[in-house]
Amino acid sequence: MRRTLIAGNWKMNGGFSANRSLLSEIKAGLPASLQCDVLVCPPAPYLAQAADLLGTTVVAWGGQDVSVHAQGAFTGEVSAAMLADCGCKYAIVGHSERRAYHGESSEQVAQKAVQLLKAGLIPVVCVGETLEQRESGQTNEVVAGQLNAVLDLLEVSAVAGIVVAYEPVWAIGTGKTATPQMAQDVHHFLRQQISLKSADMAEKVQILYGGSMKPENARELLAMPDIDGGLIGGAALKSQDFLAIVAAS
Ligand code: PGA
Repeated sequence: MRRTLIAGNWKMNGGFSANRSLLSEIKAGLPASLQCDVLVCPPAPYLAQAADLLGTTVVAWGGQDVSVHAQGAFTGEVSAAMLADCGCKYAIVGHSERRAYHGESSEQVAQKAVQLLKAGLIPVVCVGETLEQRESGQTNEVVAGQLNAVLDLLEVSAVAGIVVAYEPVWAIGTGKTATPQMAQDVHHFLRQQISLKSADMAEKVQILYGGSMKPENARELLAMPDIDGGLIGGAALKSQDFLAIVAAS
């Protein structure tokens, strides 16, 4: 049985004071017998703060991106080893905002995932189609290409060490959510793609849904058989909303 993972992607939001409030509200509001895994991904400058505030709790923290390089003269980059040093358990790679605004290719995303795995972190590999791609019937082809770029670089035994996040680009930050069945169909397809590599691993990999997940729609989405959690943007910045999604899992 796969555990549910509820992950907050804070994007470029927050500050020391706001983060302290948000994290203390989340800590205080989590049920004593938590049934799912919880992750927050603050901007890189605040990972050490997250480590300080969350170190003794069940809440994990992670990065939003990582360099394809291991170390050296790469100004502005953050390595997987640095994320590990900050106590991160996970890092997001291939978010559509990085693909769109920073021209990240699926090959680079795959290299980033490999860097994370080498450093002992769990990559949260984001895949998803644009509205145009969906409307022209390319959804499966697009997400398969994005996922397979990563799977191609992994040993079979490493496959269960990644998390996949299906985030239709047209649903991110727009208030438009994929219907539970639309999301389930793509999640099922992604799991089939993984099973081509290993049926056993495919059963183990957590596949999260992201794109305007909120308290009002979380329960229905999370009830689908192949949806194993959520990657939450806007609603992860409000403790009540984030906690309500945790409670819906
Ligand atoms: P959203 O963002 O929940 O604000 O749509 C999700 C994401 O981009 O990870």
